[in-house]
Amino acid sequence: MSSSAPNSNGTSHGSAHTINSIDRYLSVDGRARQSGSLSNLIFKFATVPDVVGFHGGLPRQEAFPFSGITFTLKDGQEVNLNPEQVIAAQQYNLKDSGYPPLQQWAADAVEKLHSPPGPHSVAITSGSNHALDMVLGLLLNRGDWVLTEEDTYPHMVDSITGPHGYKLRGVPYDRHGIIPSEMEKSLSKAVAEGQPLPKVLYTVPIGQNPVSFCIPAERRHQIYEICQRHDLLILEDDPYWAMQYPAESNGELGVHRLGKSFLSMDTDGRVVRLDSFAKMLAPGMRVGWLTAHPELTARFCFAHHGSCLGANSVMQVVLHQMLTQWGWPGLDQHCKRIQAFYRNLADTFHETALQELAGLAEWHRPEGGMFVWLKFLGGIWDYDDLLDLMLEEKVSPAPGSICSVHGPRPDVGCPWARICFASANQEQLCSQQIEPSRHLGSGHGAVASAEPEFVQDVQIL
Ligand SMILES: Cc1ncc(COP(=O)(O)O)c(C=O)c1O
Repeated sequence: MSSSAPNSNGTSHGSAHTINSIDRYLSVDGRARQSGSLSNLIFKFATVPDVVGFHGGLPRQEAFPFSGITFTLKDGQEVNLNPEQVIAAQQYNLKDSGYPPLQQWAADAVEKLHSPPGPHSVAITSGSNHALDMVLGLLLNRGDWVLTEEDTYPHMVDSITGPHGYKLRGVPYDRHGIIPSEMEKSLSKAVAEGQPLPKVLYTVPIGQNPVSFCIPAERRHQIYEICQRHDLLILEDDPYWAMQYPAESNGELGVHRLGKSFLSMDTDGRVVRLDSFAKMLAPGMRVGWLTAHPELTARFCFAHHGSCLGANSVMQVVLHQMLTQWGWPGLDQHCKRIQAFYRNLADTFHETALQELAGLAEWHRPEGGMFVWLKFLGGIWDYDDLLDLMLEEKVSPAPGSICSVHGPRPDVGCPWARICFASANQEQLCSQQIEPSRHLGSGHGAVASAEPEFVQDVQIL
């Protein structure tokens, strides 16, 4: 685990709010997490040459099935592992922060792309979803609150917070993200009423799932300042970071011009940032990285290793080799390609929807990510009103209600849908699949077309 080491009193970065110790944020589980005794021995002896390893349960490399591993990239270039890498790819993780060369790559990437001004260190994850589950487990007890946008990542609602008994408090948002004054209002109300305050703000700042907003730098500063004042940690879940679209159709962002993250303004060590290779490269890799206060990163490593013995070794080694072969110019080129690719899909969806859905629905042209958050007009009370029609026409948006912090409520209509335009190809996004929307017009007394107006705070009717 690399860190920007704090000085001897632990406050190298000088903010009045700098977090010296994360103890006060930890849950019962978080406090109990420590490095496994066997893991400690394995990590300790891993760096000592020629040790006869009687202590661990590491299989012998001679018994591994692969003698060579080669992956072929789409441009024909090969990612070829050397014998040492082939062995590492088949062995357990020998450090709880991940395969050291990949962890070092991630730590360098964090410095290069975010230059966090506060205390931080970096560890490899098994993707952001798993890391989210782990991090919240370290911080929250059953019944604790998380602040977030009123609509958020569906897994966060029903697979992570729900089963663990954490509570979500939704804050209204607009097309630039969570509204700072509403956030302030919600927190001040909780203080005034003597309610327990949330410990964490969870936010997806770029291409938010499902709303697709990108939070501008100025608003991030306002949000950060509120979190400082109310002493909240910020869980910055940013899998769509590399999927920001250039404003101009021929513009280029790549990896170096992606704007400020919460991490990049984090003087205090209060941001827990999750990065993932899932959308930047491929979700099947199940690898990402976490940046957080060094004490929290250490606890994360204990929890990650304790739960699944770390991220997949094959993928970590292959990824490191591929990223090394690419270098920064290669990654930059790749990001430019995916940004142009998804931006084109977003534009096609938007243009087609303008023709087919004007007056029948409202949405925004996405500035990043994979989603359009679409509100049905014309008297549609709920997504379910359209289910038969969608089945008939073979289009399947997700119901907006699964993104609501309140969860689906059968008694309350939700005329919103999350459309993952990024899962369709250009042909599918052209009129043919969206055309059935015409039925909407005839069937539901559609309102006359107007320039779509985005209104988020009427989601729960
Ligand atoms: C907001 C958000 N967080 C996390 C994830 C999962 O990321 P990963 O594949 O790295 O686990 C997703 C995937 O859709 C997502 O939208």
